[in-house]
Amino acid sequence: MEQNYTPETGGEMALRDADETRRDGKKVFVKTYGCQMNVYDSQRMSDALAADGYAPTDRIEEADLVLLNTCHIREKAAEKVYSELGRIRQLKHERSLLGRETVVGVAGCVAQAEGREILRRAPAVDLVIGPQTYHRLPAVVKRALGGEKIVETDYAIEDKFEHLPAPQKKVVRSRGVTAFLTVQEGCDKFCTFCVVPYTRGSEVSRPVAQILAEAEQLADAGVRELTLLGQNVNAWHGEGAVNGGASREWGLGELLFRLAEIPGLARLRYTTSHPRDMDDALIAAHRDLPALMPYLHLPVQSGSDRILKAMNRRHTGDDYRRLIDRIRTARPDIAMSGDFIVGFPGETDADFDDTMRLIRDVTYAQAFSFKYSPRPGTPGAELGDQVPENVKNERLQALQALLLEQQRGFAASLIGKTMDVLLEKPGREPGQRVGRSPWLQPVIVDEKAGEIGDIVRVRITEAGSNSLFSEAVF
Ligand code: 5AD
Ligand code: SF4
Repeated sequence: MEQNYTPETGGEMALRDADETRRDGKKVFVKTYGCQMNVYDSQRMSDALAADGYAPTDRIEEADLVLLNTCHIREKAAEKVYSELGRIRQLKHERSLLGRETVVGVAGCVAQAEGREILRRAPAVDLVIGPQTYHRLPAVVKRALGGEKIVETDYAIEDKFEHLPAPQKKVVRSRGVTAFLTVQEGCDKFCTFCVVPYTRGSEVSRPVAQILAEAEQLADAGVRELTLLGQNVNAWHGEGAVNGGASREWGLGELLFRLAEIPGLARLRYTTSHPRDMDDALIAAHRDLPALMPYLHLPVQSGSDRILKAMNRRHTGDDYRRLIDRIRTARPDIAMSGDFIVGFPGETDADFDDTMRLIRDVTYAQAFSFKYSPRPGTPGAELGDQVPENVKNERLQALQALLLEQQRGFAASLIGKTMDVLLEKPGREPGQRVGRSPWLQPVIVDEKAGEIGDIVRVRITEAGSNSLFSEAVF
């Protein structure tokens, strides 16, 4: 899953409108771990449960249904789930003393990978549901309320997207002016370190009509910026019409052009891409489509050809460098983001130096870096020559220091420049709003500059450690 690995995101925000509290007052708390696709899936689970009378809450102690939407990408991510389940067991016990039942569910990639084992390790759990079966969640919850323990991970036939309800306008509004939309799921690349092909299954693209319908609903509810999601998003393909006429095969580039026509949608992004699937049409979209933001998360993982081969990446460091050159020729102001793994089995100091050299050659505005974590069932975990923990730590520190220096350099280079910012939410201090730069950085803006949802012109005055400060340009 080459996705920006957001550290845990919290539970779905409670909807505060009084009329959102359902007749029977049932509440669901969803905690999301891992990538943006899990954030999106959590929203869709909430949507499906809302249709069944469950109002979302961000207070776990008042929840009749607790769902953990989990991540299996590294061992640490998976282990976090079990410690959380320990705490939830206590909570469930305390609620039962008050005569309240709590259904506990584990969703996401740990659910898919570990299935029944979760019930054995964590007795508080009532249901385990894999990422491709969320449309069955309301029915599964009903069975759990009847006292059954359920493992629902078998998904060969149904398509979850065809069965999940569309989000309500009011719900979309409560989530803000930016939204995720999954266009593709699964991965056929089988990088030797990665569990995704096993947990999310093989690559499936959602049909054009389904994507457009959802994008139109989101735009209609006030969404201004859409981020298309997929484990291998640029492998997306589908049948689309050409100038309203005959249909032919589209790639992500064509889809982006079509989405940009939807009134209200001002900004488009997509994540996460594989270097091998960056085709000419997609690069042309970066050149010709102003709505497509000049920011690209394109993981390379390593700069060493030997390690890239062992990882089954099927590209070299120089292939990647050439690709970046082509993308930068098309869109000179594009900012690059990436993912890196240090300490893959067999990685020597010389291999690591190749990674550092590649980082210096490319220059990243943003990056995510990880110590290699052997995952059960992946070929990498079977390799000899695992790198000792202390070496992994040293390499990660050096790599992160370089990436941080580049990130700061990029932010500093924006001081004095003017740019468009999409205002997303109120700021922490009175009189402020927070928006995003085209390059995904948070920007603090004077609230007089505009309303949430507006795109305003600002000049950057200062670069903080996490955000940029600005003055309005009138
Ligand atoms: N160990 C460490 N990092 C991993 N990633 C994926 N699998 C592993 C693993 N076994 C990283 C990759 C990927 C990101 C989402 O997580 O860099 O792009
Ligand atoms: Fe995992 Fe590789 Fe597929 Fe990304 S491309 S999801 S890292 S197997």
